[in-house]
Amino acid sequence: LIHEWPFHQRAALRKCSDLLGIHDCHITANRSWYLKADAVIVHHRDVCSSPKTLPQGPRPPSQHSIWFNLESPSHSPNLGFMDNLFNLTMSYRRDSDIFTPYGWLEVLSQPQNFSIPAKSKLVAWAVSNWNPASRRVQYYEELKKYIHVDIYGRNHMPLPRDKQLSTLSQYKFYLTFENSLHEDYITEKLWYNALGSGTVPKNYECFLPPDAFIHISDFPSAQGLAQYLQELDKDPVRYQRYFQWRTWLQLLENTYLAIHLCKPCQALQMAQ
Ligand SMILES: *[C@@H]1O[C@H](CO)[C@@H](O)[C@H](O)[C@H]1NC(C)=O
Ligand SMILES: *[C@@H]1O[C@H](CO)[C@@H](O)[C@H](O)[C@H]1NC(C)=O
Ligand SMILES: *[C@@H]1O[C@H](CO)[C@@H](O)[C@H](O)[C@H]1NC(C)=O
Repeated sequence: LIHEWPFHQRAALRKCSDLLGIHDCHITANRSWYLKADAVIVHHRDVCSSPKTLPQGPRPPSQHSIWFNLESPSHSPNLGFMDNLFNLTMSYRRDSDIFTPYGWLEVLSQPQNFSIPAKSKLVAWAVSNWNPASRRVQYYEELKKYIHVDIYGRNHMPLPRDKQLSTLSQYKFYLTFENSLHEDYITEKLWYNALGSGTVPKNYECFLPPDAFIHISDFPSAQGLAQYLQELDKDPVRYQRYFQWRTWLQLLENTYLAIHLCKPCQALQMAQ
């Protein structure tokens, strides 16, 4: 049972047998099923404003209550309400009980020829929340002294959702600065904006092969990073190496909820 649609937005459900090859899953947002549900998924953002919005009433002892959250700790208020209420966690963190990342890579059965989208521009960054005091804006202010960066988002160049991939794919590099730095917190900024559009993101380990990204902490300064990006810009052979991993790996991003919502069913079946 989905206690409340995440962000109050009803999403299309799909059969878990099609998505994950598992059977006997029934997912509903109809609260009449509360007493019968093996699990109740509670999305943090939709209940954190008041404990009154949490599931009410006596809870069947065999029911699993699942805390679901995809936001980083900096954007997850009132965590204290949630103490001792849940049996399982479901989040982008690898140490959650049910791991629901924003995207992942899968090995292909056949190698594919990946063609790099045509590039006419150098560095892009799409940012909706522009905070001059944030580390990412301060880093940008330093970086822009050495290399031109096109900025998209609120108060900058417009980037409609349907134009996002075609616009960003013209750039050789994309800055995937998250709004906050936290363990495993890697959002669609990486999976969709950067990898989905065929640019080279500039952050990360663990989730990606080392030749798929450039990490800013490998450079002593923004100037050093700018120099490196300019070198790559002039050296197509080295730039192309950042795409070799795509011969054997394909991107699966999870912008839709359907797979996430099947994961608890899979986890409970596997635990039986
Ligand atoms: C919710 O489920 C109950 C019990 O199966 C059913 O009677 C009711 O019509 C459902 N409500 C909606 C909105 O589907
Ligand atoms: C879930 O946690 C509650 C409260 O701690 C507990 O009473 C219940 O037995 C747990 N349910 C399961 C299925 O483990
Ligand atoms: C990839 O492209 C090369 C050169 O065009 C070709 O020789 C090779 O067979 C292609 N490989 C695949 C897996 O399509």
